[in-house]
Amino acid sequence: MNKAQPPGLAQQLRRLPAPILLAVGIFVGFILSKVVSIPTSTTPIWRSGHTPAKSRVQSRHAFQAPTIDQRARVLDLLTTLTPHYTKECTRNAQPLYTAQALERYAPLVGHKTPSRTSWFDTLGLGTEQPLRRDAMYSEHKYFFAINLYNSFDVIPDLFATLFRVAAVLGYQNVFVSIYENGSTDQTKALLRIFDALTRSVGMRVTIRTSMRTRGAFNHRIEYLAEVRNAAFVPLHELRDAENEYFDTIIFMNDILPCVDDLLELIYQSRTNNAGITCAADYMYHEELGQPVFYDNWVARDINGTALENAPFESIFHHPDSSSRFQKHLPIQVQSCWNGIAVLDPAPFYSPPHVRFRMAHIMDGECSASECSLICNDYWEAGYGRILMVPRVKLAYDSKVWDIIHPQRRNLTAIRGYSKIGGLPDNPLTDPQDRSWFGPHDRLFIDEESEPLDFASGPDYVWCWGWDGAGDLDGPDVDPIWEMMPNRSRTDDAVQVRHHRELIL
Ligand SMILES: *[C@@H]1O[C@H](CO)[C@@H](O)[C@H](O)[C@H]1NC(C)=O
Ligand SMILES: *[C@@H]1O[C@H](CO)[C@@H](O)[C@H](O)[C@H]1NC(C)=O
Ligand SMILES: *[C@@H]1O[C@H](CO)[C@@H](O)[C@H](O)[C@H]1NC(C)=O
Ligand SMILES: *[C@@H]1O[C@H](CO)[C@@H](O)[C@H](O)[C@H]1NC(C)=O
Repeated sequence: MNKAQPPGLAQQLRRLPAPILLAVGIFVGFILSKVVSIPTSTTPIWRSGHTPAKSRVQSRHAFQAPTIDQRARVLDLLTTLTPHYTKECTRNAQPLYTAQALERYAPLVGHKTPSRTSWFDTLGLGTEQPLRRDAMYSEHKYFFAINLYNSFDVIPDLFATLFRVAAVLGYQNVFVSIYENGSTDQTKALLRIFDALTRSVGMRVTIRTSMRTRGAFNHRIEYLAEVRNAAFVPLHELRDAENEYFDTIIFMNDILPCVDDLLELIYQSRTNNAGITCAADYMYHEELGQPVFYDNWVARDINGTALENAPFESIFHHPDSSSRFQKHLPIQVQSCWNGIAVLDPAPFYSPPHVRFRMAHIMDGECSASECSLICNDYWEAGYGRILMVPRVKLAYDSKVWDIIHPQRRNLTAIRGYSKIGGLPDNPLTDPQDRSWFGPHDRLFIDEESEPLDFASGPDYVWCWGWDGAGDLDGPDVDPIWEMMPNRSRTDDAVQVRHHRELIL
């Protein structure tokens, strides 16, 4: 595995404790950003809503860039940012999982491998020598689009995770676009702090806020689609102004992913050359007294049937999908969103252009969610490779998060195996991993690395429409089996059109 990797990368990564690894990543990202002179807030690539004072400041006195030493202090600070809810994700991960993850995600590493002997020198930090951009690290570009609304509580975790993920992918490869629509809490104030921190390390971010409300739109879905499109505006601006294209889009709601959750979604998206890749999200079901699958308004199995708000063994009606789901294996679906979706940007860049939209009600299209409609549009554009990754379990609050991320227990210590002469625990067959909501550091099995075999789309898809005119907070039209367009029902819809696979 990882044949083309610089020799010893995995071993080097393995030797480094996580905080050092993070620091390395941030440092490398910082140096690279300096060397390839990605503009920072002083020279924005586009006009963000956050640089109103720019010209005034510049005309009064020339802008003084922070010294390396000053920036290093900011970096020191950022590397000590600790998430609140998600801090336990990979802390105390079992060593075998850590080793697997480092090997699995090594091809995603977007910064130059630090040499173990003296990576400060290699980076030219001491000598101020410029870095050559050679082919030793990935230049795959990632566009993070994030919609926030009254998200004060999750923003610190969100950024702590973003800093870490970007440290792996390479800061120079990451662009973060945040669109916040009219929060009534202190979301905007908190975003301004993180805006500044993010820019100070050379990671590009644009944060736009809006006071526009739903009132200006006739249809609820039209408004929701507009909010999502707003987060994509920089994608188009960067193409138009800088001829900069991205290779992968990560779309997030106000959700609490772990670092390895995001890496796994990206890994699956690229391994499968997928149009859309989503996680699985969970909400607490009061009557059942446990978390159940949440986003069944959008999620449809490959037969077109809706997933259920139910415990894991009853979520999928499609038998093959259900059995894969219970084994935590990636599953082809007709449609899904589930809190985080990784998208192939190609259909956004080239005709027939997709965008978030409401249904063409006049043409008889069922008034589905803007996320279902974009999945349908991906099928029609020939990007119908859509999959769900059950390993990545997401929660919208800490109660559910705690249930779906239980601590791994040391069974040897609990059972006193050594005393009664039993076998020591085998991480490959740990009984804790058989339960659905098992520990986060469940070991990877070979099938999770195999690309899926994609089938053509279903003839009919279950659609539960939302008229959107009334006050009902969800679907309000009788559900129907909606016939899908011809193209999505052909093999042509699942051909690979844009190669994004990892270079091993
Ligand atoms: C902002 O968008 C969210 C959905 O992303 C919506 O629930 C909320 O009502 C919107 N805010 C306003 C002020 O309309
Ligand atoms: C689990 O507990 C046993 C006995 O106390 C100990 O020998 C072993 O090292 C522990 N394993 C881990 C992974 O902590
Ligand atoms: C598959 O889809 C058809 C409609 O196309 C539906 O009648 C049938 O019940 C579905 N099967 C399952 C197992 O969901
Ligand atoms: C789609 O396929 C059906 C038969 O399956 C055919 O009657 C119809 O004309 C086709 N529509 C288009 C637009 O090709």
